Amino acid sequence: MTDIELGALAAEIALEAGELAARRRREGVHLAATKSTLADIVTDADREVEALIRDRLATERPDDGFLGEESGAAGGTSGFTWVVDPIDGTVNYSYGIPAYSVSIAVVEGTPEPESWNGVAGAVCAPALGELFTAVRGEGAWHDGARLAVTTEIPAGALLATGFGYDPATHDGDLATVRRVMTMARDLRRMGSAAIDLSYVAAGRLDGFFERGLNAWDFAAGAILVSEAGGAVSRIELDSRRPLLFAGGREVHARLGALLAEN
Ligand code: IPD
Ligand code: CA
Repeated sequence: MTDIELGALAAEIALEAGELAARRRREGVHLAATKSTLADIVTDADREVEALIRDRLATERPDDGFLGEESGAAGGTSGFTWVVDPIDGTVNYSYGIPAYSVSIAVVEGTPEPESWNGVAGAVCAPALGELFTAVRGEGAWHDGARLAVTTEIPAGALLATGFGYDPATHDGDLATVRRVMTMARDLRRMGSAAIDLSYVAAGRLDGFFERGLNAWDFAAGAILVSEAGGAVSRIELDSRRPLLFAGGREVHARLGALLAEN
């Protein structure tokens, strides 16, 4: 398959998975378990949606590797790995807030974000009726329109961030927010990193930063931002919670300078 065909497959499966997630949401959400902390939840739908994606990929791309939030990793032989978050924004999903998404990326190289090369990504937010897609070298797209990050921030940057599930990390994250607000016009906390990054790609946000994200939270979104002309970096301020930041070139550079002061 060409990169464009891989991108089309990611988009097709993300739409199908998004429909299933939305249908299950309408039927009522059942909490299946808590994970790292009491706030970190998984629903039956997260597991069912990931199983659908994994089954579809096993049929279409049997030689590829897989890394999913709910069912873990499996190696492949083709050099490609699919990095999947079946429902990004599970807390929104369980509360009935429409900002949740299915995030599917295909990358080349190892399943380590530092060493992989993003090939294609799709983020589907079914309750918002939106699909964002990107293919390396081919741009990022939404509704037939090519996406571009913002380049001018005369009134300061509209930024988004997120907080991890461990309450012990909140103080540190709030201190980061305080520092970054010096370049902001305002701050959003939407609840799905994949949507945040899609919005950066679409120019609906000027930048995004968050500590402690997992590969499946940002794999597709990072491809979207790069293909929309922006930059994404991940730095280790401490070994436990790498910090990811993204934006247009200028916002990315200014975020990097403020965040590195930590
Ligand atoms: C979460 C969302 C949220 C971010 C958290 C993630 P999940 O993913 O992306 O916006 O702040 O750090 O864990 O758990 O809903 O898939
Ligand atoms: Ca996630």
